[in-house]
Amino acid sequence: MTEKKPYYITTPIYYPSANLHVGHCYTTCIADALSRNKRLRGYDVFFLTGTDEHGQKIEKKAAEANVTPKEYVDDIVANAKDLWASLKISYDKFIRTTDPEHVLGVQKIFNKLYEQGDIYKGKYEGWYCTPCESFWTEAQLKDGKCPDCGRDVNWTTEDAYFLKLSKYQSAFEAYLDKHRDLMQPQSRYNEMVNNFLKPGLKDLCVSRSSVKWGIPLTFDSNQTVYVWLDALSNYITALGYLSEDDEKFKKYWPADLHLVGKEIFRFHTIIWPIMLMALGLPLPKKVYGHGWLTIGGGKISKSKGNSKDPRIFIKDYGVDTVRYFVLSEVPFGADGNFSEELMLERRNSDLANVLGNLVKRSISMANKYFGGELHKFDNYTSLDEEVVAYLNAMDKEAEDSMEELDLPKTLSLIFARLSRLNKYIDENEPWVLAKDESKKERLNDVLYTLMEGIRLCASELEPFIPDTAHKIYEQLGVPAQSLEDRYFGRYDSYKVVENPETLFERIDESVLNALKEEEKKLEESLIENEAHKAQFKHKDNIAFDSFEALEMRVGKVLSCEKHPKADKLLVLKLSFGDQERTIVSGLAEFYKPDELVGKNLVAILNLEPRKLRGIESQGMILTTEYIDEDGKEKVEVLTSSLKEGATVR
Ligand code: MSP
Repeated sequence: MTEKKPYYITTPIYYPSANLHVGHCYTTCIADALSRNKRLRGYDVFFLTGTDEHGQKIEKKAAEANVTPKEYVDDIVANAKDLWASLKISYDKFIRTTDPEHVLGVQKIFNKLYEQGDIYKGKYEGWYCTPCESFWTEAQLKDGKCPDCGRDVNWTTEDAYFLKLSKYQSAFEAYLDKHRDLMQPQSRYNEMVNNFLKPGLKDLCVSRSSVKWGIPLTFDSNQTVYVWLDALSNYITALGYLSEDDEKFKKYWPADLHLVGKEIFRFHTIIWPIMLMALGLPLPKKVYGHGWLTIGGGKISKSKGNSKDPRIFIKDYGVDTVRYFVLSEVPFGADGNFSEELMLERRNSDLANVLGNLVKRSISMANKYFGGELHKFDNYTSLDEEVVAYLNAMDKEAEDSMEELDLPKTLSLIFARLSRLNKYIDENEPWVLAKDESKKERLNDVLYTLMEGIRLCASELEPFIPDTAHKIYEQLGVPAQSLEDRYFGRYDSYKVVENPETLFERIDESVLNALKEEEKKLEESLIENEAHKAQFKHKDNIAFDSFEALEMRVGKVLSCEKHPKADKLLVLKLSFGDQERTIVSGLAEFYKPDELVGKNLVAILNLEPRKLRGIESQGMILTTEYIDEDGKEKVEVLTSSLKEGATVR
């Protein structure tokens, strides 16, 4: 027997502080569907998920709850595992960063990098709140005070260790040139290269003395490993890297796919590969940065009150309604909207009307006309041939689209077959054939074609909605299907069940209407929120000439300083190729002056110059503004990979 090909797939490890909502289910359901698909296709799959349990936030929450951090996370982890079980997530390992094997593994990784000179001791700087024992960045402060307790903060430095990302920059760039596939979708590749690699990598702080709830360094007992080095290492410590039992590591590494949300793509496509390079290990084959499930166009979050526990949906509508919705709704790589009403509409239109209806009708007819027994046939009509060819082509198409990680496309090509089969019933009118004894054979052939078609579609649907697929096998009277069974004519006969249960009851209009009302209210309450309003502010149309009148160009930041008289302002000197300009901008809350130096920014040059607290601003830096997960206003400059002086339109 030939050895099965290994396939290693991971989700991010989740923060136990986050209450898991349907957005988290999205990442995990994709990983599950991909894993199930590969298993069915004969791969030896290792699917890893878990929890990211260290850090200051947990430490604080545990203190508030009057329990130890470990007791605190133990409870939440049990809750996460329960959610994954109710979603039928088929992970092979659930790693916790508090697992002793992980702790030991991270310490060994840290020591190895330190001993070879890739980690060095330096100083970490930030705003420190003494009562809260927390460091904050400038952007995190609220009116210059601690965002948690509102007290004064002090600019403080502490000893910390740093990873030399800069040392590996050029080697990594050279690697990326040859392995563009590392980053998927490709649109995110440009973003990473232009925004993070080109401006130059800064070394990464990988330890803290102020965070107690973390993995302690073996050679410096004041320090714990800081966030990303701890978290990212899970992908290899889970396989036993640097442990006595590293069989799994040898078998499964490098990972075939790290599946991550777009906001943590950067850590997985820059920091993680460089860590691996430094460890002398092969890099993952692919990191896929997916979009978000949003509600009313915004991120789902506890603070917005829109993060219902997915178990409520599972209980009310069944696990496959939730799985089907999250797997089919979000366009490949982009964001997609979630609403309960939308989910139920899709359940009615696809799962009940197309799939459920087809199965129910077909099996009922097999019972009514043949006592549930059908047999294989030879005399295909041209219509049968067309349908059979269409069905037989499905598996290859599905395999290809799954390879592209385009799950919605795979589902739509399966549903196209299901719809074709519904049409095939109407084209053949079995109820008419049944009236004529001489058409009995033809009636058998039509119904046999339907059974085979349903079976093939169910087999393709199994990775997405496994419970439903198994119910269909049962109703058809066939065993669980394997890859070898995926061709038309596999079964010589059928004996279907007598009284098939309805797979998906239609959700009543009145329920949908009540939900519509509820969702309208939620949306209104979001819109009432001033910050949210600002995010979606619309303006009147302007004449094209007014737009043409703007002179927008790319400028390189030569220097940047805090405004001596205003906390919120930065004073930037930019070169636009043929000229230099001083621009004063309200960016101090969002950037440290150093962070902007060397960046190419987009600016408007022909605005009337304006004095801002005594300094003349000769233009305006363009920014994007948005509201983050915690409802805070965020501002980001628009950067460009173009040369200074380039015109923007
Ligand atoms: N702990 C880090 C990951 C470390 S991996 C070495 C983390 N955890 S998280 O709990 O905040 O997020 C885990 C995953 O859930 C991320 O991939 C994130 O993108 C995803 N999602 C969280 N909300 C989401 C949506 N609303 N929609 C889709 N995915 C979302 O980040």
